[in-house]
Amino acid sequence: MTIKIKKSGKPLDGHVAAVTPPIPDKSAAANVGEQGVYPKSAAIFRHNRRFIPGGVASLNRAVQPEIAFSRGQGAYIWDAEGNRYIDYHAAFAPHFLGHNDAYVTDAVMSVLRSEASLYGSGTTELEGQLAELICRHVPAAESVQFLNTGSEATCQAIRLARAATQRDHIIVIQGGYNGWHNDVACNLMTPLDAIGPRLSPGEYPYFPISAGIPQEHRQLVHPVNFNDLPSVEHVCLKYPTAALITEPILQNIGIIKPEPGYLEGLRELADRFHFILILDEVKTGFRHGIGGYSRIAGVTPDLVVFGKAVANGYPIAILAGKKVLMDFFVHPEPSKRVLLAGTYNAHPVPTAAAIATVERLLMNGGEVYRHVEALGQKIQHRLEEILAALDLSGVVARQGSAFCVYFMDHHPRDWHDLAANHDFALDHKLRLALIRGGVYFFPLAVKQCSISAAHTEEDVEFTVEQFEDELAALVK
Ligand SMILES: Cc1ncc(COP(=O)(O)O)c(C=O)c1O
Repeated sequence: MTIKIKKSGKPLDGHVAAVTPPIPDKSAAANVGEQGVYPKSAAIFRHNRRFIPGGVASLNRAVQPEIAFSRGQGAYIWDAEGNRYIDYHAAFAPHFLGHNDAYVTDAVMSVLRSEASLYGSGTTELEGQLAELICRHVPAAESVQFLNTGSEATCQAIRLARAATQRDHIIVIQGGYNGWHNDVACNLMTPLDAIGPRLSPGEYPYFPISAGIPQEHRQLVHPVNFNDLPSVEHVCLKYPTAALITEPILQNIGIIKPEPGYLEGLRELADRFHFILILDEVKTGFRHGIGGYSRIAGVTPDLVVFGKAVANGYPIAILAGKKVLMDFFVHPEPSKRVLLAGTYNAHPVPTAAAIATVERLLMNGGEVYRHVEALGQKIQHRLEEILAALDLSGVVARQGSAFCVYFMDHHPRDWHDLAANHDFALDHKLRLALIRGGVYFFPLAVKQCSISAAHTEEDVEFTVEQFEDELAALVK
């Protein structure tokens, strides 16, 4: 492999050491301030609200307690007060190597020092290097394009599918998240009384998670449950279907895995009804393995979308897939050509970050994956022991470094199952208590927790102890 980012000469073993970095200020105690008290955060929010609606730059980040963060390194983030947290939120999962990973930072500094810029004209060697790397490691990727966010990439994937099939209808998954645009801003954690009981075969009403989506547009989008092949077939028999888009594991409502045969069944239905199978690997891709979860599952989608972990926190997304589809971006007939444009596409900073991230993931035969799997197994085992000792109905769902505790007696198979059986209130209270104790689980029930390469056994130990104490106090 010939990756040509010139590094600043930092030795490779320095980077490998970052897989399990030293914890420089552990002795300085987790809490510099008094955890659970956030006057500096409150002042920052007050200031920001004067200029930003909600005071925060992505409204998915608007949660209680309102904490403003000021620093991140490895497995830790610090708030404006100076409180340190072991971070399991990872900014909704991109920080798979940990915050400010030295190897990635070095690559970024290196392209900046070499006076790389955003030229906005012609191509660059760098984007070609990343494209080649992705095509080499992702079975579904015969050809790739670059965007800045996962939402842009899923939007383009759906547009490509419509252009290629000359059909308009699409299937989305109840409980999945694929971004903020009109086709997919719907049916995430929908109240069951709004969509009714489980229906199979059948479809649920489009339930928007945003205002401003035209009624006409909603008619084209058909939500069905995860792990429900008969409903996919039902929609295909009723409507000319261009595409089905799904996360291969539902990771925006914890960790809901595909049942054996589900992804294979989607592939078969796509082939039978000639719709485009789009796997949204924005959360699963690279976190569960080079090549994405589709590679692990052995199911090759027509189009696949990556984001987040592919550049360890730098803004880049990748749309990849069959060349015959991707070539619609350069179709010789203008009326069939799909517009792909973006001022910042393949900006050298995130492009270099992505190349460095993939290099880092490939190092030492996948050491990063072995490390997070070992920590994942440990945390799962210990949390299961705690649930059993407290005689609580609960399961720990996990795929590699991503996990979620469900307070119910079985692993959910879809949103209906989860919404009907999980103890959302206990989940939320536990998250708030953990945050007060210096362990940052995103304070919204059923949100995925993410371990990074920078987390250590010691971090996991501390987390498990906090979990045990706080949960015991809540249920006593
Ligand atoms: C599975 C999935 N797809 C798409 C997106 C949208 O990505 P972005 O926030 O980068 O637009 C997300 C974001 O959380 C996601 O989890």
